[in-house]
Amino acid sequence: MAEPSGPVIALVPAAGQGVRLGEGVPKAFVDLGGTAMLVRAVDGLLQSGAVDRVVVIVPEDLVESTRTLLPVEVTVVAGGSERTDSVRAGLAVADDAQYVLVHDAARALTPPSLIARVVAELRSGRTAVIPVLPVTDTIKTVDVLGAVTGTPQRSELRAVQTPQGFAAELLRRAYAEADGLATDDAGLVERLGEPVRSIVGEPTAFKITTPLDLSLARALVEEGTS
Ligand code: CTP
Ligand code: MG
Repeated sequence: MAEPSGPVIALVPAAGQGVRLGEGVPKAFVDLGGTAMLVRAVDGLLQSGAVDRVVVIVPEDLVESTRTLLPVEVTVVAGGSERTDSVRAGLAVADDAQYVLVHDAARALTPPSLIARVVAELRSGRTAVIPVLPVTDTIKTVDVLGAVTGTPQRSELRAVQTPQGFAAELLRRAYAEADGLATDDAGLVERLGEPVRSIVGEPTAFKITTPLDLSLARALVEEGTS
């Protein structure tokens, strides 16, 4: 197990292709007001004052060019075909971590204060911490044919953001025992039966996924509010 004084290491999965955004380049490298999304995401982590090291995970052919975009102390490694593979590649070079944050490059406008709050929860003794927001739409479950199979109580539903924070030993165990894929890291920890704590997220930590999201992000940057 890591020493109590070990560092907080942030893993930044940025190896996706950005198919839904459709900009023709991997999403993390899309420009947002003169700065690539990935660079903004890394800057936010460094500005939080709560992160000791940053590991960025990018498509294999972009490893060298990414190094020139980021501060020299940021580690850059190649990811895999699924997000889970990319996080695993990052974990492999974060051996000495006491706490690990996993933070999507696609959440480029995440306020540093949210990052600091996740780390503060870890330091207070929680072993898995995720930022969440209430959902505004009613959510239905449907079957493969589109027939509605249920309407979960909206008051119990939350949309999940990053950074997600973990005691490093717990996240390693979750990945070691992961059978199959997960859309978020906490999901793997839940499968171990371990508790996951939610904290209140931030609207500007939204994931830039579609062209509409990118328009919103660009407007916020232009306004100077993010
Ligand atoms: N990601 C990754 N490795 C993958 C897939 C995704 O590191 N094989 C990263 C993305 O770069 C992104 C984050 O995980 O920062 C969240 O994924 P998502 O929003 O789905 O991004 P993309 O996979 O790039 O987008 P799309 O699914 O539309 O192709
Ligand atoms: Mg994806």
